[in-house]
Amino acid sequence: MYPFQYFTPTKVVFGKGAEAQAGRLIREFGGKKVLIHYGGGSVVRSGLLKRVQDVLDAAGIPYVTLGGAVPNPRLQLVYEGIELCKRENVDFLLAVGGGSAIDSAKAIGYGVANGGDVWDFYDYKRKAEACLPLGVILTIAATGSEMSDSSVITREEGLIKRGYSSDHGRPRFALMDPTLTMTLPDYQTACGCTDIMMHTMERYFTNGGNMQITDAIAEGLLRTVMKNALILRDDPKDYDARAEVMWAGSLSHNGLTGCGSSGGDWATHKLEHELGGLYDVAHGAGLAAIWGSWARYVYKSCLPRFVQFAVNVMGVAPAETDEQTALRGIEGLEDFFRSIHMPTSLRELGVDPTEAELADMAHKCAVGVGGEMGSARRLREEDMLAIFKASV
Ligand code: NZQ
Ligand code: ZN
Repeated sequence: MYPFQYFTPTKVVFGKGAEAQAGRLIREFGGKKVLIHYGGGSVVRSGLLKRVQDVLDAAGIPYVTLGGAVPNPRLQLVYEGIELCKRENVDFLLAVGGGSAIDSAKAIGYGVANGGDVWDFYDYKRKAEACLPLGVILTIAATGSEMSDSSVITREEGLIKRGYSSDHGRPRFALMDPTLTMTLPDYQTACGCTDIMMHTMERYFTNGGNMQITDAIAEGLLRTVMKNALILRDDPKDYDARAEVMWAGSLSHNGLTGCGSSGGDWATHKLEHELGGLYDVAHGAGLAAIWGSWARYVYKSCLPRFVQFAVNVMGVAPAETDEQTALRGIEGLEDFFRSIHMPTSLRELGVDPTEAELADMAHKCAVGVGGEMGSARRLREEDMLAIFKASV
């Protein structure tokens, strides 16, 4: 195993009505003027935004609001949020929504606390030295951004989707009420379950440094998400299944399922970010569409992990050869994706890239990762292109 640091400073309040704690916690973390940041309007329609405003009114905490964070959140709105915060002397951010609203809020927080152009961080030009404190009221179980150090933003110019990670951006608190996720479209629920699984799988398929305890947590998490994703497919209002998936989402991306490993593979995520940037697809669906092609391309370089995954997670009986066992595990997961109506190819995802677009995505991906990426197998630009081509 490798040495590791595990840092999860986020205070979690989990259960029905958790949003009622927002005022108390904003005060606890020193907030005096709040920006409530949200997405395209689901929190308006559900009445959640109004309830949150009532909670802040009752606590005597002044606030301004900014909606409009879209899936694959845009840089332009981040700039708008930064200006608003400066103008209104905002000192605390409250994201109400999913990964897009949370990530957009993190970016606003970096912009206000550091000055200069916030895109510099996403362009790897400099590192953030601070972030405005951030709280989250989560409405979709998916990205784990409510506890993670990451924020993913898309710059309109050139359609470049990039992630930036810093402990400064980790939320101070996350309020998680599983009932809030019951209004999700089925497609978003399934996208979320896929993303949750992928955050653990990116950490699982590595060469070196694996620990039994981390594997046991990871494998248990993956089995739990699959089981409850099927329950939610048939009964979206099942509270316990919503709760299992919601907590899994946080644990899957707060570092827990990677302790001791070499840091993870992350190639599927990097490839998906190109799809999200160019075609604006839902993140989880993009991951499902690319994963099988990635797995078939790399499994021989990481065979023991693929065999372990097949047996311990997908319940595959060991076949004659390890290669066969590994391939059955890959097929098993693709079957699972299909069973929750997730795509397993770009065509099923609804995109039909030209050869030039595939080459462009591979090139941008290679540039974004500094040439090479991956732990299961190191991938260069030509490998990225081969995986994109195989996933068509
Ligand atoms: O925008 P609204 O109107 O709120 O609608 C959203 C959006 O259309 C809707 N929704 C959310 N909660 C709902 C709801 N609809 C009804 N009822 C509810 N309770 O669902 C749609 C998706 O929302 P979004 O926030 O975009 O989803 P998600 O949480 O999957 O976030 C995706 C973004 O996060 C990034 C992705 O790349 C993508 O840009 N990621 C962020 C990560 C991180 N910060 O750690 C890690 C991930 O790997 C990922 O890259
Ligand atoms: Zn993800």
